[in-house]
Amino acid sequence: MKVLLVGGGAREHALALGLQADPEVTEIHCAPGNAGIAEIATIHPVSVSDNAAIVELARQLNVDLVVVGPELPLVNGIADELRAAGFATFGPSKAAAQLEGSKNFAKEVMHDAGVATARSATCTNRIQIEKALDEFGAPYVVKDDGLAGGKGVVVTDDRDIALAHALSCTTVVIEEFLDGPEISLFGISDGKTIIAMEPAQDFKRAFNGDEGPNTGGMGAYSPLPWAPSDIIEQTRHDVLAPMIAEMAARGTPFVGLLYAGLSLTDHGVRVIEFNARFGDPETQVLVPRLKTPLGMLLYKAATRNLDGVKLEWRKESAVTVVLAAKGYPSDPQTVGTISTMPAIPDTHVFYAGGGRILSITGIGEDLTEARDRAYRGISQIVLDGSFYRTDIALNASVAEKGN
Ligand code: AMP
Ligand code: GLY
Repeated sequence: MKVLLVGGGAREHALALGLQADPEVTEIHCAPGNAGIAEIATIHPVSVSDNAAIVELARQLNVDLVVVGPELPLVNGIADELRAAGFATFGPSKAAAQLEGSKNFAKEVMHDAGVATARSATCTNRIQIEKALDEFGAPYVVKDDGLAGGKGVVVTDDRDIALAHALSCTTVVIEEFLDGPEISLFGISDGKTIIAMEPAQDFKRAFNGDEGPNTGGMGAYSPLPWAPSDIIEQTRHDVLAPMIAEMAARGTPFVGLLYAGLSLTDHGVRVIEFNARFGDPETQVLVPRLKTPLGMLLYKAATRNLDGVKLEWRKESAVTVVLAAKGYPSDPQTVGTISTMPAIPDTHVFYAGGGRILSITGIGEDLTEARDRAYRGISQIVLDGSFYRTDIALNASVAEKGN
């Protein structure tokens, strides 16, 4: 099977590694890829935002499957164009990707599907905004309605900061604060059946001790020994399956990866957000743990054939630490040097780009060993002071999450 992977970050590097391990996958192509991906795939200098050029590339290569990594091309309708050209595509249509593209749309679908989430108000003017801030109270949760790369959300006790952020958005969702540990749980969907993956925890804040601005994610680990034992089945039953059924009923089936960001509150599981693609950096811990061949799994989803498929996982743990450029996320200074990557046993180094330079995943018998390996990997990569990384705490406590 010939696969074209769209994207060029650490997530796509991890997906490429998973595809490479699948004996059914004979060729991997990636657009645009990166220097790390180039070691295991043929890379093509085509931008992820050029739908026509991606379709043309798929045609020239005559691929059997296209896997779309990032949200931007999905929200721009790349999957629709690929399907129209006859390619099996893992990634939702433009209409289905609105679950990520619009927080307001996601709230509507959750409401219709009976999926539990934070109470919220969608506001477009100052009067509505102030009313919602006062109704929900502190900590204030203020979300730009559109795509913002995980950076359009402000959670603060300071009403002035909350108000200023809300006023800077055209449409803003203000919601109640969900108090509980956060997890990411992904489902692989063929539009009617959805298979839940194992959960991971992501570290959103830039600095140690849960401080600093929200980022795309500074690290992740899996499995979560502290999570309730039925969390996978519960999330599949209460969250993922109803969303897939609702999207199908609306005539916009969701084919691809449905990412549920969840808060495990005292009142039960609540959805914080949905994304329409694999998470970054969660993918960097999940792919190395997944035993089920990735290429065939995504092909079965893309061709609506997931019935009866069960996922198998390695018992090992994985911890990813992101190496970010100084100033990330607001003003990444991409100066500095990293040595040629040494091969470190039980460690994967995934190349990224932009503010998040690399993801280093350690694999171990348990999470502590995996984390030691990830940090040891970082210390073996020569770098100057232009980079930083955060401490990854391995427990459920929000206060100690350490991101
Ligand atoms: P989102 O882009 O919606 O995932 O929000 C980014 C981050 O903001 C989440 O990962 C949470 O850490 C935080 N957040 C978002 N919504 C809430 C909420 N209702 N309650 C508490 N924290 C939230
Ligand atoms: N790790 C968060 C995200 O992928 O959006």
